[in-house]
Amino acid sequence: MSATGETKAITPPDVAARKGGAPLVCLTAYTTPIAKIVDRHCDVVLVGDSVGMVLHGLPSTLGVTLDMMIMHGQAVRRGLERALMVVDMPFGSYEEGPAQAFRNAARLMAETGCAAVKLEGGEGMAPTIEFLTARGVPVMAHIGLTPQAVNTFGGYRVQGRGEGAERIRRDAAAVSAAGAFSVVLEKVPEELARQITSEIAIPTIGIGASPACDGQILVADDMLGVFTAFKPKFVKRYADLGDAAEAAIAAYADEVRERRFPAAEHVFGDAPKTGERA
Ligand code: KIV
Repeated sequence: MSATGETKAITPPDVAARKGGAPLVCLTAYTTPIAKIVDRHCDVVLVGDSVGMVLHGLPSTLGVTLDMMIMHGQAVRRGLERALMVVDMPFGSYEEGPAQAFRNAARLMAETGCAAVKLEGGEGMAPTIEFLTARGVPVMAHIGLTPQAVNTFGGYRVQGRGEGAERIRRDAAAVSAAGAFSVVLEKVPEELARQITSEIAIPTIGIGASPACDGQILVADDMLGVFTAFKPKFVKRYADLGDAAEAAIAAYADEVRERRFPAAEHVFGDAPKTGERA
């Protein structure tokens, strides 16, 4: 709370300042109700392009569009008071060069109210990150396993084992030097995550990258057990809401078929009963 009683929203510099401090707690959200819950407990809410697979049933994140990110970004924005909102730049919206990236990042910020964007890529994306940050677009970088490059990698494999480690160390150094305020490290070995976290000036946010990182992020639907198409090793299930939904929907279907729902308490009479809510 500020002196005026307003909740102070977390900013990109606040996140950057958490380097080496209390772990940053980050989760995805795509809808207002989940955003409200995440806002009460987390520092950063990411409107991830994982929305394509999790909510829209796409086979990868490659089919996600800028309009989808804007629509989900607007929904999440309505649920937030405190957490920093970051929106993913979808595949094809930034790779042509800095000018294309700025144009689309500016749309995301103007139309969703997000305070930062996330984009995938290391050394090769550093000039774009520099261009954006110099023009008022805070950037969270994303290196290691970058899901938009799934076809280049040939699958969602661990990155940075053996000789691949050097490349990811260079990526981390490049995005930090380019001005990113934090970097997501996805699916890399613990020792590499520890090394990178000690080497760069900005917070590392791990997903499948060990507790050595400055913070952690998960896809909310994975940890809630709503998205169960597959479960990466790095996901811990904190709830089984998918099972709970299955049971509830099955019970509803049975009750409708057996005419046990609606019951008397769900039915309106000609005149309102005392205390009845419409
Ligand atoms: O799209 C997403 O949800 C992400 C996180 C997994 C980091 O990029």
